[in-house]
Amino acid sequence: MLTITITSLSGGQGKTTTALFLGRLLSRQGFPTLMLDSDPQHNLTTYLGFELEPNQPTLLEFLKKTVTPEDCIYPTSYNDNLFLIPADDQLDTVQDYLSNSGVGATLLKRRLEAVAKIFKVCIIDAPPQRSQICLTVIGAADYLVIPAEASVKGYGSLVRTLDLLGGLRDVGATNAEVLGVLPFRDRWFGNTQAQESRAAVEGMRDEVDAGLVLPSIRESERYKQAINKRATLSELGYTDLEYPFEILIEKIGKLIGSK
Ligand SMILES: Nc1ncnc2c1ncn2[C@@H]1O[C@H](COP(=O)(O)OP(=O)(O)O)[C@@H](O)[C@H]1O
Ligand SMILES: [Mg+2]
Repeated sequence: MLTITITSLSGGQGKTTTALFLGRLLSRQGFPTLMLDSDPQHNLTTYLGFELEPNQPTLLEFLKKTVTPEDCIYPTSYNDNLFLIPADDQLDTVQDYLSNSGVGATLLKRRLEAVAKIFKVCIIDAPPQRSQICLTVIGAADYLVIPAEASVKGYGSLVRTLDLLGGLRDVGATNAEVLGVLPFRDRWFGNTQAQESRAAVEGMRDEVDAGLVLPSIRESERYKQAINKRATLSELGYTDLEYPFEILIEKIGKLIGSK
């Protein structure tokens, strides 16, 4: 199983949007796909149509191992290949458990070994803060995708995320490599890119190998439409808007093939 964490150290950077479309596209290509919601705000869980009762197992129980791993994995209504380990707002209570365990950075990686034979790929939606949950989802990753708004704030979010990754690698808390940086909400007026967007994307190219900066996700209501209609962009006829995800899917497909 190839594990990819979608992370960026601020809210509103496109993490959940990216995770959701990657999950839909990978599962539609026939890969058994596990999605994991690690944000106590649980937007991914909601977008996938789940309204959980307080007693239903989630990532909290998966991490604490209080039930079997399979009990925390739910089939989704999107297709037969897409599954979810959901979150709810109780997930915040796992922070102390992770820090007291002494092995917080490797705990999720260890837990995922139990299901690694069932799935080809695991897509993890990370929380926006630098927290114990954030460390364990980066520790579990083979690769990271870092979405970052094409703005001053987004550029800052990328820089902080790369700093964190560097620090974690230094102490052996992760081996994750950056698979791509995905500029989010890139604004264009006709054929002209907004100045702030252009400056931010240029800044991103200076922070990582320029080849790692993926084609942008344009500012557009159509992404939200697709999320709400539980569809992919191409299913709604917006194939051109899907291009950044297609490039990513191609990279991921090759990595799955070589694993
Ligand atoms: N292409 C887009 N243009 C404008 N807004 C978008 C686009 N794609 C998604 N959004 C909206 O932007 C907001 C933030 O995206 P989200 O993926 O939730 O970020 P994060 O998970 O990093 O907090 C959401 O309300 C989402 O619906
Ligand atoms: Mg989110």
